[in-house]
Amino acid sequence: MITVSASRLQSRIEALAGFGALPGGGVTRPCWSPQHEQARAWLTRELSAAGLETWVDRAGNVFGGLGLHAFGADAPAVLTGSHIDTVPEGGILDGALGVLAGLEALETIRETNAPHRRPLAVAAWSDEEGRYGSLFGSRTFCGRLDLTRVEAMAAVDGERLVDAMARAGFDARRVAEAQAPAGAVAAYVELHIEQGPRLEEAGIPIGIVDSIVGVRRTRVAFVGQADHAGTTPMERRRDGFLGAAEYALKARDLVVKHGGGKSVTNIGVVRVHPGVTNIVPARGELVHEMRGPDAETLARLDRRAAALARSVARRRRLEVEIQPMTATTPAACAARVQRAIEQACRTLGLRSTHLYSAAGHDAQNLAAITDAGMIFIPSKGGRSHRVDETSDREAIERGANVLLHTLLLLAA
Ligand code: GLV
Ligand code: MN
Ligand code: MN
Repeated sequence: MITVSASRLQSRIEALAGFGALPGGGVTRPCWSPQHEQARAWLTRELSAAGLETWVDRAGNVFGGLGLHAFGADAPAVLTGSHIDTVPEGGILDGALGVLAGLEALETIRETNAPHRRPLAVAAWSDEEGRYGSLFGSRTFCGRLDLTRVEAMAAVDGERLVDAMARAGFDARRVAEAQAPAGAVAAYVELHIEQGPRLEEAGIPIGIVDSIVGVRRTRVAFVGQADHAGTTPMERRRDGFLGAAEYALKARDLVVKHGGGKSVTNIGVVRVHPGVTNIVPARGELVHEMRGPDAETLARLDRRAAALARSVARRRRLEVEIQPMTATTPAACAARVQRAIEQACRTLGLRSTHLYSAAGHDAQNLAAITDAGMIFIPSKGGRSHRVDETSDREAIERGANVLLHTLLLLAA
């Protein structure tokens, strides 16, 4: 039975972790940043050195092909991949694992001449973490990006996608060219750390993802009146921040009480304007995120959250602006890919369980154009999106071998 080189994979994980490395561990490597572009250059060299055809598309997606040098319907490819961008102060495995294990699997297949009828490819999808818009590269590849919005796409700090891409040598006006021809992908499977505690707590080494949560992100701004913070009597103030604060607490209660037990919510971006100590805030703005595996529950929560924002504003004599940013629906993983993963686990003698993904992934876009699925390995302590995110070396090796054998089954 063929297996990956765990030591080669580990040394690549350590090498990639050097780009954007933080002094205390972890990494900050947002898409299109100098650190990210250095990592991209390193990755393309590694893919080529592994004997793969290597190319980068107009959306910045990096590919390594085995028996493939471009996507076309004439030779549908079995695709794997993930991303090499990270959240700020993130870990070294979120995304990197799936890309480097995909590279390792393809290199192993090439070296051992393992039979595969279909061509194979590994992708590093651009801006999965969505600094400028979530799952950008895979969304573009799958024809799901609203091209009329590209000019307006920007990070929460205001930096425009068009400018960030230009700095990295890409022309955002040409991203449409990155869309894959229909029928070009025969199947997609992505290896990722779970990023939560379920596998570790169950003591099960492999998770087979059956669906991926939908995400709603909405910018909610409470608009009141700037006033002198010392002289304005308390009852006359129309404080935008207090509107946002009351909304934040009540929106959490709403999701916990009415989210069906699986929905979650977060407010990770908050801004107060003008933002000085001696002015009553005229404006309190936040980005409210909700996620869940059930589309109807999520849509209902969205309606109730909007009603809540309006009622908080009314009582506090504020205006409210509600601007939807993202609304993805939960995506189902293909039964065929789940069965291939099950079979790979049996071949390797590994226990597995089915679970939904509580994080967003590029696989949810691929699921719109092909049979897509995901393999999870346990995350230490369930930690992710933090600098001490990690998984055991053995867990990584197991995951990479399951990926290898799943790819061979899908390409047979
Ligand atoms: C991707 O990391 C996400 O936010 O789920
Ligand atoms: Mn992530
Ligand atoms: Mn990820």
